[in-house]
Amino acid sequence: MELEAKGICFRYMSKTAPILNNVDFTLKEGDKLALVGPSGCGKSTLAKILAGYIRPSGGTVLLDGKPLPDQGYSPVQMIYQHPELAVNPRWKMSKIAHECWTPNDELLKDMGIEKEWMSRWPTELSGGELQRFCVVRALGPETRFLICDEITTMLDVITQAQLWQTILDIAEKNKLGMIVVTHNNYLADKVCDRVIKLTDINHI
Ligand SMILES: Nc1ncnc2c1ncn2[C@@H]1O[C@H](COP(=O)(O)OP(=O)(O)OP(=O)(O)O)[C@@H](O)[C@H]1O
Ligand SMILES: [Mg+2]
Repeated sequence: MELEAKGICFRYMSKTAPILNNVDFTLKEGDKLALVGPSGCGKSTLAKILAGYIRPSGGTVLLDGKPLPDQGYSPVQMIYQHPELAVNPRWKMSKIAHECWTPNDELLKDMGIEKEWMSRWPTELSGGELQRFCVVRALGPETRFLICDEITTMLDVITQAQLWQTILDIAEKNKLGMIVVTHNNYLADKVCDRVIKLTDINHI
């Protein structure tokens, strides 16, 4: 499988300056790519375009040569920096955990999710606890590519390491391609086999 960004261009409003211009790259299954660059250079914007959440003003995102499906479970899943903005605040955690697929007990255990959390509201969990649910939700069996946008920034180092270990084990098992957006060079080196500076491939 292959995820390809071809000539991606983007601007938020017609009068503002473009954020992305003619960005190209390809990610194959099993590839782990770190996407780095200064704050505001467009990493999260590109991540959302790759995951199909926003449409580019120019260019295309192709999955095995075809446009992303616009219905059903997307094989390109994204995890955000702020989990509290990525869950429905009116849903209990058990409903959120089962929103996209049915994770098994082993995965929930590996993610350090306690059974008792299932009956809570999102506001009754810490950011790190909530983020584990967002990670699980994105790891359904149909996921082929996983985009992680600064997903462990709010966690302590031990929890970060545990979470990444579980994600990497699943990525390895399922041959997922991964894009890791981060400001942390250590994490980029540790987790990824390739580093791309957005400013090097963005022709602004
Ligand atoms: N919804 C929006 N409307 C208008 N401008 C936006 C919007 N979202 C982001 N921007 C602008 O687009 C630019 C790129 O933002 P983006 O969030 O992609 O940067 P980033 O590289 O992820 O930064 P960071 O490392 O701080 O997360 C920034 O200048 C930002 O102010
Ligand atoms: Mg960002």
